Amino acid sequence: MTEEVLRIRGGRPLRGEISVQGAKNSALPLMASALVCRGETILTNVPQLTDVYAASRILNRLGCRCTAEGQTVRMMQNGLETSEIPDADMRAMRSSIMFLGPILGSTKQCILTMPGGCELGPRPIDLHLEAMRKMGVTIREEGGRILCRAERLTGAHIHLPIPSVGVTENIIMAAVCAEGETVVTNAACEPEITDLAQYLNQCGAEIAGAGTQTVTVQGGRPLTGTEYRVMPDRIAAMTYLCAGAAAGGAVCVSDAEPAHLKSCLSVLEQAGCRIGICGSRIFLDRSGGLRNIRYIRTMPYPGFPTDAQALIAAVMSTAKGTGVIEETIFESRFKYLGELMRMGADIRVTGRTAVIAGVPKLHGAVVTAPDLRGGAALAAAAVGAEGETVIRGLHHIDRGYEDFARVFNSLGANVERGSFSA
Ligand code: EPZ
Repeated sequence: MTEEVLRIRGGRPLRGEISVQGAKNSALPLMASALVCRGETILTNVPQLTDVYAASRILNRLGCRCTAEGQTVRMMQNGLETSEIPDADMRAMRSSIMFLGPILGSTKQCILTMPGGCELGPRPIDLHLEAMRKMGVTIREEGGRILCRAERLTGAHIHLPIPSVGVTENIIMAAVCAEGETVVTNAACEPEITDLAQYLNQCGAEIAGAGTQTVTVQGGRPLTGTEYRVMPDRIAAMTYLCAGAAAGGAVCVSDAEPAHLKSCLSVLEQAGCRIGICGSRIFLDRSGGLRNIRYIRTMPYPGFPTDAQALIAAVMSTAKGTGVIEETIFESRFKYLGELMRMGADIRVTGRTAVIAGVPKLHGAVVTAPDLRGGAALAAAAVGAEGETVIRGLHHIDRGYEDFARVFNSLGANVERGSFSA
């Protein structure tokens, strides 16, 4: 049986410059929030990803015409035809829960299904539903479907028990349509939330404090669609920098936002990489050996991002000494480590802690991407490994990376994408 895989012949340093894609985790909520803005929204710098196409399918099914042309997505919102997200769409993309807030904001009702678990462990939506209840939404479950309805959507003071990115976004997208003021405390501070607030404010909303732990929304203002450029993808940028760190050489990532990567860049410097910043360009040079990072704990922004956890593990696998990674955000985000061990990495995992003893070199192997960032980490490890690595499970990587093989090859890697008999 043939399947599409990546064939990576590693062992050579990387050299070159790439322009980083637009942020997947901003483009998706921005597309969802177009539902609360009348008329046309044009998003530019949108990465061409399967998750973006899944979001476009959901919008079209709801009655918001959405077309994607290259890196431009156009949405025309003149009233929805339905408020229901079909089960297949809920399962196709884990983050389809982010349509809950804007559909409620736009129609005061929403029907969705219980999303299944995903590669990172269970993805509960209890905090999403709790927040909507506080805004006046009644929610009941019937045969696996979740029926949400609000006579009136009212502003509320909502304190989040954990600074959830998606819940903060859902509250903002509902609150702009609610009557009165909404205040979110212990809100997530990720840059993608700031991007969402900037777009909605450009459409006429009044959102203050986005990017801090307290976000305040004055609801009920009429919102009109606008043109907006999606922010750079900080995790994609970190992906290519980690590939440079793992393989050695000199890599430049342009069109990035270095301010979003402070915790990531300082970790790469601790590992022995030289980092330079000039405007939107980030330079990484790794000519000498790598030192392992004693201890990394994934944290909400601006701490070290959980999405970069696998990427830094790929670097630590061949760094001198022993390093420890503690994953505090997701329950099961170490599946890729087993695949790294097939490449010769020396790693022991206990619960949410991984202990990585650096080895001089990894070697090629046939590995399978268990999830989006785990797959990217295997590619970063493979470019630095001796010999050939075959990476299966590309559908995970296609969810979040545009032109993955081409970008690596423009840095001098030897990556071939094709259907090979596995
Ligand atoms: C967003 O997911 C990102 N996805 C994730 O990126 C990222 O890893 C995550 O934020 C953390 O930064 C998008 O933006 C599309 P959370 P989200 O709600 O919003 C628990 C990638 O690789 N939780 O901040 O789903 C949850 O289980 C993806 O690009 C509840 O318990 O993350 C997790 O343990 C992966 N109940 C924690 O909160 C809820 O109702 C943080 O999740 C919601 C979340």
